[in-house]
Amino acid sequence: MVNTKVSLSGLMLDNPVIPASGTFGYGYEFAELYDINLLGSFSFKGTTAAPRFGNPTPRIAECPSGMINSVGLQNPGIDAVIQRELPRLKKCFHKPVIANISGFSVEEYVHCCQKIDREAQVGLIEVNVSCPNVHNGGMSFGTTPESAAEVTRAVKAVTTKPVYIKLSPNVTDIAAIARACEEAGADGISLINTLLGMRIDLRTRKPVIANKMGGFSGSAIFPVALRMVYQVYEAVSIPIIGMGGVSSARDAIEMMLAGATAVQVGAANLVNPYACRDIIESLPREMEQLGISSLTEIIGGAH
Ligand code: FUM
Repeated sequence: MVNTKVSLSGLMLDNPVIPASGTFGYGYEFAELYDINLLGSFSFKGTTAAPRFGNPTPRIAECPSGMINSVGLQNPGIDAVIQRELPRLKKCFHKPVIANISGFSVEEYVHCCQKIDREAQVGLIEVNVSCPNVHNGGMSFGTTPESAAEVTRAVKAVTTKPVYIKLSPNVTDIAAIARACEEAGADGISLINTLLGMRIDLRTRKPVIANKMGGFSGSAIFPVALRMVYQVYEAVSIPIIGMGGVSSARDAIEMMLAGATAVQVGAANLVNPYACRDIIESLPREMEQLGISSLTEIIGGAH
């Protein structure tokens, strides 16, 4: 019998598999397909203070081994999440959830974190300073150590829950940004968000995506994500949630060897809505084949 349990800042997970924000709605949508209580946890859609319709369409471009999205943080707003989405989720998910919070100003991050902090089912707050699809917000807070640290300090001052900062790969030195977040009080780091990319339609000779560019995700980015998790593990001593192209139990194990305590699965959910369930079910078998009795023992094992 292998042990798949891991702990994220005191939050015990039955396994390290977490659907990534933006690929799993507010959870209950997937409860129609399978019992989502088998998940370690899940990260809900990036939520802002006010409701957002998102970017103009087309917002999706398919790519070999991945996809580009430019959703633009479509969400119903923090009050609707608290009043409508979380009560719905509570009926079908009986574990702590990860609240993904986005914003366009430090004050907005603070406002949302303060509100979500009062929700009993929220076990951890993931502060998204890395959305590449909005202007004057999102990623602009995650591209310098100073601005990432400023957001971290501000939200830590108003929350009692563990705060993980979700970082962008679209930077020169992600380790320096992670270190600045740790120094500002972050309890953990989530990485990576999507890589900025684009496609051009050969018939129209124009960008496929209305917003021209978007975030590239999927199995094609796995080696980049793995490299960044490896680098950040060497730079900080707080836990890491690793993500970026994870689509199998073996990918999850590789990510943990690089330094992740848990993994998020994103684009794979959009290809196969059962992806997380399949990974969780195959994890014990893969662990046995690789001689792993407990997942906690392999975290950072490649260093
Ligand atoms: O456009 C989006 O909603 C994506 C968000 C993100 O990548 O953080």
